[in-house]
Amino acid sequence: MAAETSTPRPAFNRKNPLVARIARRKLLTEGCKEKETWHFELDLQGAGMEFLPGDSLALFSHNDPALVDDVLSALGFSGDETVTDPNKVEMPIRQALTESCAITGLEKKFLTTLAEKAGEEAMDLVSLLQPDQKAALSDFIWGREIIDLLLKFSNVKWEPQEFVGVLKKLNVRLYSIASSLKAKPNECHLTVALVRHESHGRLRQGVCSSWLPQRTDENTPAFCFITPGKGFRLPEPEEDAPIIMVGPGTGIAPFRAFLQERDATKAKGKSWLFFGEIHEETCYLYSEEWDQYLENGTLDRVTAAWSRDQAEKVYVQHKILEHGADLWDWLESGAIVYVCGDAERMAPDVDKALHDIIAQHGGKTPEEAAEYVEQMRQDKRYRRDVY
Ligand SMILES: Cc1cc2nc3c(=O)[nH]c(=O)nc-3n(C[C@H](O)[C@H](O)[C@H](O)COP(=O)(O)OP(=O)(O)OC[C@H]3O[C@@H](n4cnc5c(N)ncnc54)[C@H](O)[C@@H]3O)c2cc1C
Ligand SMILES: NC(=O)c1ccc[n+]([C@@H]2O[C@H](COP(=O)([O-])OP(=O)(O)OC[C@H]3O[C@@H](n4cnc5c(N)ncnc54)[C@H](OP(=O)(O)O)[C@@H]3O)[C@@H](O)[C@H]2O)c1
Repeated sequence: MAAETSTPRPAFNRKNPLVARIARRKLLTEGCKEKETWHFELDLQGAGMEFLPGDSLALFSHNDPALVDDVLSALGFSGDETVTDPNKVEMPIRQALTESCAITGLEKKFLTTLAEKAGEEAMDLVSLLQPDQKAALSDFIWGREIIDLLLKFSNVKWEPQEFVGVLKKLNVRLYSIASSLKAKPNECHLTVALVRHESHGRLRQGVCSSWLPQRTDENTPAFCFITPGKGFRLPEPEEDAPIIMVGPGTGIAPFRAFLQERDATKAKGKSWLFFGEIHEETCYLYSEEWDQYLENGTLDRVTAAWSRDQAEKVYVQHKILEHGADLWDWLESGAIVYVCGDAERMAPDVDKALHDIIAQHGGKTPEEAAEYVEQMRQDKRYRRDVY
């Protein structure tokens, strides 16, 4: 394997993260009421941080101070009480709840301790915590956060250290890197969708995806490190294999890195991008860049699916089916299929569409199509990075 394409050893890690700056940012979905997806550029000048297309950035973030205030107020704490945080560091509880504790998701340790402390009042919670109630517990947890239960069980009194002791560490979030060091040396780009929903009368926002656009500026230290993309890699340059990239929503991120890299290395392999979002007018992420790549030959085809521009949903898998005959030709000429984005709904649907076109255009039974896909997997010609 050529030295320049081998996986670099990560110089930074969880215990020794790089402190980067978020030099530039841009709202990619200007004018869209339903969603907010942002582009961020981290300045890596002088840091010596290396990565390859397909890698992700692990990022530390902070909780929303307004939510920290609500939690402190529900607990009756001033915020100055000294506690030992989950990293075993002494600090005021306000700082611990902002910087090092997970204060949103409902975890077993918090729920069990709350149920014990609340006694009779929490019998419903006690029954939800029984081993045979897993499905009911996960229904209960979906859309609820720690603050909801602190408000509901306001009679329960906590000691500051006792409360911090039942919380988990605030963990890093991963983001697929959306740039190539060959095209953008000293930079690391991210494409981040704000997670936002309303439940039980409260607006909820994802910790890191709201911290980035709402609570950082160019002076905020962003502690981060690389997590290698395992098998999610471009074919070696000398192979020049055709690539088919399926990346709706933020799933587009690693493919922007792939295409920047292929543009910079003047790779000869053909490439076809499937993108999907809700509206063409406001959510066509990086569309000018795809136009440029189509013009200079880095990209051969872009096929887009807009899910809310018409009455019925149109998704990437519908476009895959529509272009099944061409796709089959690409597969037969050795194309590698990459899929990135939502693991729960999109990836299984795309997988099914792939099976369907192989059966239909390859004249195969469903079993033979499954064998074909399995062979692609074994040959590393079907690679997924889904979350
Ligand atoms: C390898 C990898 C690559 C990734 N790449 C990207 C990327 O390029 N861009 C990107 O934006 N994300 C990416 N992600 C996802 C990212 O890591 C975070 O999970 C995402 O940003 C949410 O983090 P958060 O801290 O904002 O939200 P959190 O605070 O973690 O909250 C998210 C949680 O909120 C809850 N939730 C969400 N929606 C609802 C709802 N409607 N109702 C009730 N509860 C709900 C769920 O429990 C969910 O797990 C990637 C993930 C992985 C593993
Ligand atoms: N846990 C979940 O249920 C879930 C699901 C999706 C995303 N997420 C998270 O939400 C964040 C943002 O997601 P995102 O902005 O990347 O985009 P996204 O929510 O995945 O949406 C991108 C596009 O994919 C469409 N889509 C929805 N269902 C699909 C399916 N079954 N097959 C193909 N396309 C489908 C969406 O259409 P419509 O929205 O119009 O249907 C939209 O047009 C990510 O962090 C992701 O992890 C979580």
